[in-house]
Amino acid sequence: LKVRTFSMRDYDVVKELWVSSGLEVRPGDSREEVRRKIRRDPELFVVAEEKGRIVGAAMGTWDGRRGWIYHLGVAQDFRRRGAGRAVVAEIEKRMARKGVPRVNATVFKRNEASKALFASLGYDPDDASVKYSKDLAPQEPGCE
Ligand SMILES: CC(C)(COP(=O)(O)OP(=O)(O)OC[C@H]1O[C@@H](n2cnc3c(N)ncnc32)[C@H](O)[C@@H]1OP(=O)(O)O)[C@@H](O)C(=O)NCCC(=O)NCCS
Repeated sequence: LKVRTFSMRDYDVVKELWVSSGLEVRPGDSREEVRRKIRRDPELFVVAEEKGRIVGAAMGTWDGRRGWIYHLGVAQDFRRRGAGRAVVAEIEKRMARKGVPRVNATVFKRNEASKALFASLGYDPDDASVKYSKDLAPQEPGCE
């Protein structure tokens, strides 16, 4: 398994992987928004490849204070083989190199697999806080 930097050429495959993984693909995941994201910190968006096939992906970001991991997804037929862990570990390594002091991930409470994965990598749940969000631009449904 090889973990490498995402390229725009991977966009369609990765989007398909997100959809088939049941991840909520939102307007911020459009081709244009992804292009904008990778202009900031391209090396934090990685894919896991097995024999030329993309089997996993996650988008890491750094806002200058905290690192964030979004949209971790692994192909159904490739789960429980360490790809998810490898993707997160690689993003952490790359963030550490950039000086990111702490990394967060938002995980749905019902997502037992993801909770177990992050716990196995040393992440602690924060039960004391609730995420608040607000749209600053109109959010169209769908992705592109
Ligand atoms: C969550 C997800 C990315 C895990 O990917 P994966 O490649 O199967 O995970 P790994 O093989 O690296 O597993 C690492 C550890 O996580 C835990 N884990 C992973 N899947 C699990 C599951 N279904 N049930 C319980 N624990 C699980 C285990 O501790 C596992 O270690 P082990 O196999 O040695 O016991 C994958 O299930 C997925 O794509 N789910 C749908 C999308 C999603 O929910 N993404 C997360 C958004 S926050």
